[in-house]
Amino acid sequence: MYAERALEGLDDRLRAVRDELTRTGSYTLSAGELEYGGRVAWRNSTRCVGRLYWEALEVRDLRHVTAHEEVFAHLCAHLEDAFHGGHLRPLMSVFGPGVRVHNPQLIRYAAYRQPGTPGGVVGDPANLALTDWLRTLGWAGGPGTPFDVLPLAIESAGQLRLFTLPPQAVQEVALTHPDCPAVGELGLRWHALPVISDMSLEVGGLSLACAPFSGWYVQTEIAARNLADADRYDQLPAVARALGLDTSRERTLWRDRALVELNVATLHSFEEAGVKIADHHTVTRHFRRFEEREARAGREVRAKWSWLIPPLSPATTPVWGQRYKSREESPNFVRPPARWEAPAPAAAATGCPFHGH
Ligand code: ARG
Repeated sequence: MYAERALEGLDDRLRAVRDELTRTGSYTLSAGELEYGGRVAWRNSTRCVGRLYWEALEVRDLRHVTAHEEVFAHLCAHLEDAFHGGHLRPLMSVFGPGVRVHNPQLIRYAAYRQPGTPGGVVGDPANLALTDWLRTLGWAGGPGTPFDVLPLAIESAGQLRLFTLPPQAVQEVALTHPDCPAVGELGLRWHALPVISDMSLEVGGLSLACAPFSGWYVQTEIAARNLADADRYDQLPAVARALGLDTSRERTLWRDRALVELNVATLHSFEEAGVKIADHHTVTRHFRRFEEREARAGREVRAKWSWLIPPLSPATTPVWGQRYKSREESPNFVRPPARWEAPAPAAAATGCPFHGH
């Protein structure tokens, strides 16, 4: 930070940090260091294609906040302030020690096992284990729609409590198609804000376990993965039927055509609703601009190419022909194992990957 911003006083600061480390075994980041660390963690996120705006990240220093109720109130404020009437702003809220949000994102849709329905699940199958775990913690379940918002599992000082988000914190967009009303009748929707809440922020050798952060969606995340993947909402057959496509043979390319129209519908609907969203052509062009800026600053951009390329028409975007080094750098975000995941199998003892079978 001192080097990149050409700040004075590095020696004094390092001496103070060493001194605090010797006395207490740890040290405290200044508010400015936390803010810069949060921004550089974004800049270093190898899977993120939206990093051009890393310097615009607002970092809320909430390290004094640890009580469940207070954490919840600040999470609601994060959702409302980051939404900002549809003009989404990148925001990170950093909480105090002993706090953890177990949901992978602040807004996630429940999954209900329902034998007899296609796929056997109503809702988002990606959240089956999370939904089951929340029920063991006492969640009674929601109304049973495909888009029931899950409660938040907030941990503080070793104690877990569940909280239900108020409607004004959960902004969603119902999907319609600009020229095919039948697509709108499928009842598809998605939430406006992706707020990653299960990764810890690693800065200056310290780990901050609760630091939810959000930007805005690229439409492909919603329309080419969440709603389209066969093991998620699996909506391509329904969209194809709504469009009146011939689904009797693969060679009509009905999947591809439905996919494109679902992406069109998502961009159209967010735009109509006045909610900021990126498209895969613009965001990849912005990524190339980010690379140019970083090169000018004398830094090398690390990236995971397979995450940067969009799941729709990847070869039409300017990242397609690029190659990147993917080694991780600090500051960064790190994902600890989920609470509901089974502990690692004891297979290491025998070296047998099929231990127990
Ligand atoms: N792909 C994830 C989702 O569909 C969100 C990841 C973060 N995305 C973002 N645009 N910041 O929910």
